[in-house]
Amino acid sequence: MASIHMDDLHKVYGGGVKAVTGVSLDIADGEMIVLVGPSGCGKSTLLRMVAGLETISRGTLKIGDRVVNTLEPAERDIAMVFQNYALYPHMTVFNNLAYGLKNRKVPKDQIGRRVREAAKMLEIEEYLDRKPRNLSGGQRQRVAMGRALVREPEAFLFDEPLSNLDAKLRVQMRVEIRQLQKRLGTTSLYVTHDQLEALTMADRLVVLNAGQVEQVGTPMEVFEKPASVFVAGFIGSPAMNMLDVDYLRETGAGDALHGFPPGTDLIGVRPDDLSMTAPEGPHLRLSGQVALLEPAGAESHIYVTLGGSAQPITVRVQGLPTVAEGADLNLFAPLPVLHPFNRASGLRVA
Ligand SMILES: Nc1ncnc2c1ncn2[C@@H]1O[C@H](COP(=O)(O)OP(=O)(O)OP(=O)(O)O)[C@@H](O)[C@H]1O
Ligand SMILES: [Mg+2]
Repeated sequence: MASIHMDDLHKVYGGGVKAVTGVSLDIADGEMIVLVGPSGCGKSTLLRMVAGLETISRGTLKIGDRVVNTLEPAERDIAMVFQNYALYPHMTVFNNLAYGLKNRKVPKDQIGRRVREAAKMLEIEEYLDRKPRNLSGGQRQRVAMGRALVREPEAFLFDEPLSNLDAKLRVQMRVEIRQLQKRLGTTSLYVTHDQLEALTMADRLVVLNAGQVEQVGTPMEVFEKPASVFVAGFIGSPAMNMLDVDYLRETGAGDALHGFPPGTDLIGVRPDDLSMTAPEGPHLRLSGQVALLEPAGAESHIYVTLGGSAQPITVRVQGLPTVAEGADLNLFAPLPVLHPFNRASGLRVA
């Protein structure tokens, strides 16, 4: 197992496309890092640079103490699980798992041992003689995982491995991958555009935007203290509400406004942090009208239009809402839960 060190990594594709611009990151031995960000932000590119499938335009990549910039993928001792894993349809599960090891000329008895161990861990032992077409989607996904496992690599790289699965199976496999990663203690870099997957799986998550790191931190750090407007909007669902400070001043939105450092012109508030009763101490007060109720099982979302602003804000409550569509509503949030941002820099203010 190994640590991974990225120092100022850049990737410029042909035609001058800047996919990754100056990413630095130290991943500890055994750590699970989740790279998260919107489509096109450079996640796969960065992962493929680590794997050795893309050349590095600038910067240094180390695995353990070794600079690997120019090493071939096979020399890096890393196993990758892709979104579109293609299993060999004419081979049994056993042979799918054994194929890479045979190519590497691993002795036959060792292949047998490793395949059986991986199959046991992934609970696919009883399918070893089947062909992939006779497996369910989740079982196939496990075989794809198994091909990485049998390699016993220094690190795992995952590129959206669950995006082909239905919602229920995604959750199940998410848990299985995380449990397995913890048990094996293998350094892992996991790519997803799903913020919930990132929050639930990561030791630390890295939010990427347009080829650059927006924030690195534990899931709680990033959720509780998003470093930028971008991160605030990307992590957490429903997304954080953003309120214009000028608008709040005009509408006399409460004494909380005095509590912010200079430069604050946007205030973020999570849908969970708004309530219909006034708290003690300095707080924000908003008045609006219920535009839409959205029951979602154990919780409900209330969309509220504020006077003079087009975009409704979202409130999340437990259970069924106690207000009706069209009703006037006051909302409150205490000062400590509010997130101050500067619009021009896009950054958090203190
Ligand atoms: N081979 C290539 N040649 C030129 N540009 C490329 C190439 N591969 C990717 N890009 C561009 O680089 C940027 C980053 O692409 P990348 O595939 O890393 O994004 P991603 O974050 O993985 O997105 P997604 O979530 O959609 O998979 C995009 O603008 C993409 O169009
Ligand atoms: Mg991708």
